[in-house]
Amino acid sequence: MCDFDKIYEIHNFMSVSNPNIIINKTTSSRIGQLDFSNIQFGKMYSDHMLCAYYENGKWGTPEIMPFHNLSLSPATTFFHYGQAVFEGVKAYKDPNGNPLIFRPEENWKRMNRSAIRMAMPEVPREIFVEGMRSLVDLDRDWIPSSNDTSLYIRPLLVATDEFIGVRPAEKFLFFIITSPAGPYYSHPVSIFVHDKYVRAFPGGVGYTKAAGNYGMSMYPTMMVKQMGYDQILWTDGFEHKYVQEIGTMNVFFVIGDKAVTPDIAHDTILEGVTRDSVIKLLREKGMTVEERPISIDELEAAHKAGQLKEAFGTGTAASIAPIYALTFHEDKMLLPPVENWETANWLKQELADIRYGRKADNHGWIYRV
Ligand code: COI
Repeated sequence: MCDFDKIYEIHNFMSVSNPNIIINKTTSSRIGQLDFSNIQFGKMYSDHMLCAYYENGKWGTPEIMPFHNLSLSPATTFFHYGQAVFEGVKAYKDPNGNPLIFRPEENWKRMNRSAIRMAMPEVPREIFVEGMRSLVDLDRDWIPSSNDTSLYIRPLLVATDEFIGVRPAEKFLFFIITSPAGPYYSHPVSIFVHDKYVRAFPGGVGYTKAAGNYGMSMYPTMMVKQMGYDQILWTDGFEHKYVQEIGTMNVFFVIGDKAVTPDIAHDTILEGVTRDSVIKLLREKGMTVEERPISIDELEAAHKAGQLKEAFGTGTAASIAPIYALTFHEDKMLLPPVENWETANWLKQELADIRYGRKADNHGWIYRV
């Protein structure tokens, strides 16, 4: 990981002027427009949002208010230079209808790692975690309860100086919106392993949730979608030899009786909260999990030998997304039928049981609203 000490010195602006939250409720809820029997990902937003402004070296009081459009100058920094970082978190309902948020502290810490790398102020816990708790509490009726659904929570931090010179901004807006969500991928995915375009280099921002990491992926992703694939598995930028991540997800392979996933040592891979949860659950189950470089040659050889048993993506939005085919150049590696997979199917169920509060939370992952 990066040595952040120096950046910490520069950005010593953690003070919160007032940790309380102002709440202004809507007088006209839109919840009647939501079809709970047909929830898609990212199409509708709940009644409220949280906003907090950072100015003169400190955070103002966060405010929860009706969801609304923002009014910003065309000269606003993040429009021009992408000084913006975000997160993805999910809230669920337990069998008694009580809201739960899955591991929000981890997303808070990761947002601040991203913010530091992008020369942005860290968001205090009181605003990120407690603000999120209050927002989810207020919009709890928007949390769907059927299988594979949740309330997707999107925190975003953007630079708001009205200045088009290139320098770290001094004014920032942090906001959280929430959206009832169905599955991100409704079917197993087909993945194209890219050896032309690059997502991340050592020393870059690949380990952050910088908005630009997603913006740069649009063109190559559009190209592979036109070729009939769902997503890209990125490879390293030096040799295009080692796989990194899928952009919307981290990636795992079951080779023989071990699970393997790319290690996060070179700042090129997002430290996924689902990735971490999966590693912990598999190790507790007794499975060997290796975090290490994985070459495409190794995957091809394992597939040829009948040892590439499963491949799946992990992420907040995607949860556990089975990969039924991996294509590298002309080599289309078809995996065994997904319904027979032991590891991914077990993980999906286990994680769902924890997230929906159906199983004891032995890890302290559930944050009760
Ligand atoms: C997430 O899994 O929460 C993500 O942020 C990935 C994608 C939807 C951008």
